Amino acid sequence: MEKIKLGILGMGTVASGLINIIGFNNSKIEKILNKELTVNKVLVKSIGKKRDVNLPQEVYTTDAYEVINDKDVQILVELMGGINPAYEYIKAALNNKKHVVTANKALIATHGEELEQLAVENKVKLMYEASVAGGIPIINTMNDSLAANEINEIIGIINGTTNYILTQMSDYGLEYDQAVKEAQNLGFAEADPSSDVEGDDAVFKLAILSTIAFGQRIKVNDIPKEGITKISKEDINYAKELGYNIKLLASALRKDNEIELRVHPAFVPASHPLSTVKNEYNAVFLRGNAVGELMLYGKGAGSLPTGSAVLGDIITIAKNANNLVAEKSNENKYIIANRAFKQYYIRFEVVDEPGVLANIANIFGKNNISLASVVQRQKNGNKIAPLVFITHEVERKNIDAALEEIKKYENVTQIASIILVENFK
Ligand code: HSE
Repeated sequence: MEKIKLGILGMGTVASGLINIIGFNNSKIEKILNKELTVNKVLVKSIGKKRDVNLPQEVYTTDAYEVINDKDVQILVELMGGINPAYEYIKAALNNKKHVVTANKALIATHGEELEQLAVENKVKLMYEASVAGGIPIINTMNDSLAANEINEIIGIINGTTNYILTQMSDYGLEYDQAVKEAQNLGFAEADPSSDVEGDDAVFKLAILSTIAFGQRIKVNDIPKEGITKISKEDINYAKELGYNIKLLASALRKDNEIELRVHPAFVPASHPLSTVKNEYNAVFLRGNAVGELMLYGKGAGSLPTGSAVLGDIITIAKNANNLVAEKSNENKYIIANRAFKQYYIRFEVVDEPGVLANIANIFGKNNISLASVVQRQKNGNKIAPLVFITHEVERKNIDAALEEIKKYENVTQIASIILVENFK
């Protein structure tokens, strides 16, 4: 049987998932391809290390160029992560006329344009389904199955670590630090969790998704971000009381000639399907102008789910290596806007005295902010009370202007939180 030969850069969690799936699903794969997938060369850091994959010892090398320049390798699979040296390796592989499959979100979000161009010039394929939301087939779904649609909105829970942390705080009452530790113990969060909890990981993924959705190159710097480090248990409890869950959302909205993008914690109505996405799971909700609302749900990380996405791309290339890439322009077809016309949850700590609520409400009114809900708690023996508002929809600049004024008011001891409310209108 004819062979398709793979070269792999990196032999971590995702690569071992890929090798294991090739092993246990090999008869199905051979039936589809009428070809056998084999691994020719694998770049590793240390050749002698014990690994839970069944590959002959002679495939391993510590020299990346032995993989990239191997004349038998037809598809290079990059699973090292990080921008350098993966960037140089992928460029070299494309220039060597090898198809490339990668799971590298940081690299595609930053250098996707140049790499896609290089793939076109060399008449090879560059595929990266596994770079966003692990096992969820969102990229190829948007590129192929939803190609008949204009995508108007994407709202995703695309970072499993933060979703795990927020779920543990909300459903089991853990404090933020405890939840981070637990995520680390389970292998969801890195020893340094900042890329996940500060929102950077989700920004890379949203840049990739929105570039495909809108056909315009979206840069990482176009996406304002706020992570989950400031979310307190108090906010989570108010959210629940008011009928919401707090989630880290990656959202992209297209309206007329504007698109708005952001990664941010948000109140999500408890009745919305995104609210039920728990722990390390991911989901992408989108609206197409023909298909309507759609939501894909699944595992956003892990050895077999991410390996499944990588292998899907390999099989696609092996089946049908044509070289059409949907055009993504650098022209400003859409203006990147930042109106954030949404509802907002705002929590203050105030001195519990006559006229305080009325004064704050008055400042909101002057700034054209209409209030949807107000909650005030009495604190026994304490003159400081929490005061919580949910506004109607308003631009963020009105909220900021009102808060500037409220900040000066001596009876407001703290503006504790401002969290966007996603109402899916
Ligand atoms: N760190 C990511 C997450 C998984 O927590 O979802 C890989 O993209």
